[in-house]
Amino acid sequence: MKTLKKLLKETEKKKVAIGHFNVAETSQLKAIFEVAKDLGVPVIIGTSEGEAGFLGRKQAVALVKSLREEYKFPIFLNSDHTKSFEEIKKAVATGYDAILFDGGTLPLAENIKQTKKVVQYVKSKNPKILVEGELGNIGSGSIIRKELPKGAAIKPEDLTKPEDAAWFVKETGVDMLAPAVGNLHGMFKDAPEPRLDIERIRAIRKAAGVPLVLHGGSGNTDEDFLAAIDAGVSIIHISTELRVAWRNGLEQELKENPEEIAPYRLLAKSVLDVKEAVKTRLKLFNKK
Ligand code: G3H
Ligand code: ZN
Repeated sequence: MKTLKKLLKETEKKKVAIGHFNVAETSQLKAIFEVAKDLGVPVIIGTSEGEAGFLGRKQAVALVKSLREEYKFPIFLNSDHTKSFEEIKKAVATGYDAILFDGGTLPLAENIKQTKKVVQYVKSKNPKILVEGELGNIGSGSIIRKELPKGAAIKPEDLTKPEDAAWFVKETGVDMLAPAVGNLHGMFKDAPEPRLDIERIRAIRKAAGVPLVLHGGSGNTDEDFLAAIDAGVSIIHISTELRVAWRNGLEQELKENPEEIAPYRLLAKSVLDVKEAVKTRLKLFNKK
């Protein structure tokens, strides 16, 4: 089985991207895995601190590992937006394949200091775990938004600077970098997402020298995704779109079958709708 590190190298060469999808329970995992398996493309499952708290870290690792082993399929688990050192330790101890330390809202020097500490700790325990750092504020929460998140980087002067990215990577030793390039967590209710700054992505990739991870993927245009991949993005995170699909599917099922009480029947439409959302994104990210 190829490691995530090796797959990332291949991904970049092929000018495609690996899809990263968040889960908090097994119907979401089932939907994502089934689509990735049908399409024959690698996939990363993410759990934020909240999602991991709900599902359980040991349980998330066991579920993903069991799929990887039973189907000999490249599915990996990322500890997404991990903010506390306690949670970093738990992710390492339970066997995650990758960890994002999220110091994105910290001042640069403090972000570097904390991220470096995390990289040293993780690599001392298991050098195979990939560590991602975050540079720039893209707001937090996979939610439906009415307005821009406070402090989020949208203006060109607030986006991640290539020279900062180079310094950050050199000082911390991260394997991957999540920059602020016009991307935002969550999705607007009645407005389009801001456009991605493709030339900034290209410049950051060149300066940083490590694969880039695009967060806040929900709501972005196909055109921006393809250009971002061409410019150096190797992993794309999608969560809000899947949450919306999951909820809409469940609401429809509850409406159509008000007497139904079996969870696996109530969740069938959710699974179908999440599968559709995942399929659209994975096909696009793996378009050659
Ligand atoms: O880490 C999670 C992602 O960045 C999801 O962002 O909810 O905007 O798709 P999204
Ligand atoms: Zn994110």
